[in-house]
Amino acid sequence: MSILSAVDMDGFLRPQCNIRGQESDAGPNVSSLDPSDWSALRSLGHRMLDDLFDDLAGIREEPVWRPMPDAVRAAWNESLPRTATQIEDVYDLYRTQIVPYGVGNRHPQFLGWVHGGGNAVGMLAEMLAAGLNANCGGRDHAPIVCERQVIRWAAEMLGLPDASSGLVLSGTSMANFVAVLVARSAALGAGVRRTGVGQGQLTGYASAGAHMCVARAFDMAGLGAEALRLIPCDANNMISLPDLRDRIAADRSAGLRPFLVVGTAGSVDTGAIDDLSQIAETCANEQIWFHVDAAFGAIAMLSPKLRGLFTGMERADSVAFDFHKWAQVPYDAGCIVVRDSVAHRAAFAREVSYLRRETRGLAAGEPWPVDLGPELSRGFRALKVWMTLKTYGADRIGEVTERSCELARGLAAAIEAEPLLELCAPVPLNVVCFRYRSGDDAMQTAIAADMQENGAAVLSTTIIRGRTVLRAAFVNHRTNQDDVDAVVGAVISTGLARTIQSAVCAEPCGNLP
Ligand SMILES: Cc1ncc(COP(=O)(O)O)c(C=O)c1O
Repeated sequence: MSILSAVDMDGFLRPQCNIRGQESDAGPNVSSLDPSDWSALRSLGHRMLDDLFDDLAGIREEPVWRPMPDAVRAAWNESLPRTATQIEDVYDLYRTQIVPYGVGNRHPQFLGWVHGGGNAVGMLAEMLAAGLNANCGGRDHAPIVCERQVIRWAAEMLGLPDASSGLVLSGTSMANFVAVLVARSAALGAGVRRTGVGQGQLTGYASAGAHMCVARAFDMAGLGAEALRLIPCDANNMISLPDLRDRIAADRSAGLRPFLVVGTAGSVDTGAIDDLSQIAETCANEQIWFHVDAAFGAIAMLSPKLRGLFTGMERADSVAFDFHKWAQVPYDAGCIVVRDSVAHRAAFAREVSYLRRETRGLAAGEPWPVDLGPELSRGFRALKVWMTLKTYGADRIGEVTERSCELARGLAAAIEAEPLLELCAPVPLNVVCFRYRSGDDAMQTAIAADMQENGAAVLSTTIIRGRTVLRAAFVNHRTNQDDVDAVVGAVISTGLARTIQSAVCAEPCGNLP
C-alpha cells in the first residue's frame, strides 16, 4: 500500500475540505498539514469569520450565560482522536458545544468579576497573529519590535520613563509575579537566583484589599505568602498609611528586611485606589521597591477626567496591569512595565549557548523578552494590543473607562434611591457593591446564581465587612444605561421571587411538629 493510500484510509482525502499534504515536483508531502487545494478550507474560514461577526452583532439577543446541559458536558469525555474528522464537523462541534456555553463576557449585561468585553479589531488581530505563528521569546523580528512599541505606549500612559522595559504577559497575576521577582533580586542581588532566598528575611506590604495573586506571587517567589503583610484598609477601602508605616518599622526592628510595597490602583472588591503618592513617599524614605497592581485601573489613566485619581503611579518602580480588561483587548493580554530596565534584566537574563546573542542576523536584537520574564516560547499577544490601540486610539479607550464610571455612579445612585436595595461601599471607580436589603448572605448568593442561570445578567459576589454583597463591575464597552436599568430590575424581581418562595416554604415547614 502506498503512503498516500494509507493516508487516504485515515480519511485525509475526503472531498469536502481537502486537508492533505501539499504536492510538489518531488511528489506529495504527506507530513504537511496544509491542504493541497485551499478553496474549501478558505470558504469555511470565511464562514467562520462571518459567524464571528454575526455573533458579536447579535450578542444582545443571547442570554448572558447558560449552564452547560449534562449531555453536552458528557460529550467532552472522548479518547484521543487517532483518525481525522472533517473540519466542517469539528467546526459544527465548536458551534454547538462551545459557543453557547462560554463565559458570556462579550455580553453588555455581564458585570461579573472584572472581565473585558473584547473587540472586533482585537479578534481579527488574534487571527492574524495565529497566522503569523511568531515565537516572541527572542531574536530580531517585527513582532518583538511591535511589542516594544506597545511597552513604550504603556510607559507613556503610566507616566513612566520611555526607557522602561516590559512585556506583554498572560495577565496581571503573571505581571505581579514578575514584579516580585525583580524586586526580590533588586533587594538581595541577582545572586539570589543561584542561592535562593533563605528563611523569612524579606517582607512585603499590600492592603488587605489586594488581589490574592500578590500573595501567590510571594509564595511562587519562594518568600512565603506570610511574608506579604496585609495592611488594614480605611473606611474608603484604601491602605491605612499609618498602619503601613508602623508595620514596616516593626519588621525592621525585628531584624527583617522590608523590600516591597504593592499599591493597589483599583481594588478587585470595590475599585478602591490607594494613595499612591503617599506610598511612593514612604517607599522613597524607606528605600523600598514601589510596585502598583493596576490590573484594571491603569487603563483609566487614558481619560483626562480620571487620570488625577492615579497621581503617584508615575513614581512606581513597576506597574502591572491588563489590556484584556478595560482596554477591551481579547484575552489574554496583561502587562508589566519596570522603570529600571537593568534591574529588570538582572532578574531573568541567563547566558546559554543555544540562545547565544549575535550582533547580526536573526539572533541579534537583545534584550530578548526571555531576558525579562519566565517564558521562552511565547505568542504574539502584542499584535492585538497594538491593533486595538492604533485602530480606536487611546482617547477612545479612555472614554470607554469614563462611561463605565458614569454607569457605575448611576447604578450607585439608583441603589440609594431604591428602598429594596442597599449600597455597601463607596464607588470611586467602576465597581458597585450592594445588597438586596431584606435578604441574608445566602439570599445575595442565590440572587446572583438565579440571574446567571436564567441568563438575565451576570453579577458576582464578594464579602465586604463580613457581609456577602452583590458586585457589579463595569468594564464592557457595550454596556449602556438600558442594561443598568435591566440589571436593577432583574435583581429586584429575583429578590422578590426569592422572598415569596421562602415565605411559601416557611409556611408548611413552620407547621411541622
Ligand atoms: C486588582 C487585580 N489584580 C490582579 C488581578 C488578576 O489579573 P489577571 O486575572 O489578569 O491575572 C485582578 C483581576 O481581576 C485584579 O482585579
